[in-house]
Amino acid sequence: MSDKITLNIEGKTVDCPVITGTEGDKAIDIGKLRAATGYITMDPGFGNTGSCKSAITYLDGDKGILRYRGIPIEHLAEKSSFTETAYLLIYGKLPDRKEMDAFSSSFNEHSMIHEDMKNFFDAYPSSAHPMAILSAMVCSMSAYYPDMIKENPTKEDIDRIAVQLLSKVRTICAFSYKKSIGEPFVYPRHDLMYVPNFLNMMFASPTRPYKLVEEAVQALKVLLILHADHEQNCSTSTVRLVGSSHANLYASISAGICALWGPLHGGANQAVIEMLEEIHADGGDVQKYVAKAKDKTSGFRLMGFGHRVYKNFDPRAKIIKQKADELLNKLGIHDPLLDIAKRLEEAALKDEYFIARKLYPNVDFYSGIILKAIGIPLKMFPVMFAIGRMPGWIAHWKEMIEDPTTKIGRPFQIYIGSPSRDYVPIEQRG
Ligand code: ACO
Repeated sequence: MSDKITLNIEGKTVDCPVITGTEGDKAIDIGKLRAATGYITMDPGFGNTGSCKSAITYLDGDKGILRYRGIPIEHLAEKSSFTETAYLLIYGKLPDRKEMDAFSSSFNEHSMIHEDMKNFFDAYPSSAHPMAILSAMVCSMSAYYPDMIKENPTKEDIDRIAVQLLSKVRTICAFSYKKSIGEPFVYPRHDLMYVPNFLNMMFASPTRPYKLVEEAVQALKVLLILHADHEQNCSTSTVRLVGSSHANLYASISAGICALWGPLHGGANQAVIEMLEEIHADGGDVQKYVAKAKDKTSGFRLMGFGHRVYKNFDPRAKIIKQKADELLNKLGIHDPLLDIAKRLEEAALKDEYFIARKLYPNVDFYSGIILKAIGIPLKMFPVMFAIGRMPGWIAHWKEMIEDPTTKIGRPFQIYIGSPSRDYVPIEQRG
């Protein structure tokens, strides 16, 4: 294979270097195309476009492979903790004992939010979606911790903001839930690890201590690890694009949270449960909904199905389905929505429409069943995704900002509007 591809457009020639990744994936570098030929490429939805080189996550959608820094997610889900996985993603290596201890204890140091920020929660209606609160609060952190948003942050500054975000986001999410149910906030505790600490802030109250259920802690840990990164998805690309203007880490991540909120991305876990509830209330006829999803005029899609990259199976969905089964068995919960989800999956996977388009359950298809079993309210589901994705967003922002070749993100367009015309004063318009 040549190390360059030569394009000849209207007699103008341009040599485009071929870039090859560690796993053999290839790209054509068209960086000189516009200058040499006047042409740009057109790729709505970026289905054929690489925006950067990255050493964080590798995924092969045809083979169903997902690795963080080279380590298969199956191993991390089984053996690692969420904080260790966060360290791996952000710093590129597994921490030794000393590094891990220092990283964990800095979570305690940063777990509280500024007391003044608590007033924010009062300003929101109790019906506010927690993603709205989360994105606003994360962006507002740049106002409360201004020393952390220097023009040129040092490595130490970035490390501090990273751990601060990872730790505080848990507190913000739990506080927004407490606000929505009108209960007093429960502060973070230093004696609890990341996931138990979050669950305690969510479910403990002055009159009702929260009894941690190990199976729930484990299931949530796995869920967060599996959501921790997914290379250049919609929200991560947003974080990188916003950050490419040198917007600070809080602002960039706040934008990522907004991108994640949409039902075609991280909001899908909420949408899946809403869909399963609808099917349940409608008598549980999954075939009816498979038919509806195939009917392009219905405007309905099977939520939690399909993926831009996975065309075989989503390895995360496989682990999550198993975890959902295990958790419900251990907790002795019979959730009719799990039965519907399994029947829906079976029906769709046998259907020619879904087979031809290689549509499989994605990470969000079964994750809501786990969150529901743990007691997380529906509106908080995308927020749980955001907590999980935080290490990935931070790792990508850091990689982007530390790369001296990064340029501000600024795509082109092909203009299809009116040709040049004169301004007509209002009196003369017909
Ligand atoms: N139900 C029914 N049909 C579907 C579905 C679905 N869930 N997903 C894709 N299709 C169909 C499309 O209608 C299209 O059919 P066509 O070729 O006849 O026009 C074909 O499959 C390809 O779909 P696209 O929308 O072009 O695929 P794209 O890669 O752009 O979208 C996406 C991927 C957004 C995930 C899509 O599959 C979808 O909307 N799924 C449901 C929402 C969802 O679960 N999102 C979570 C994704 S995972 C994540 O972000 C964490």
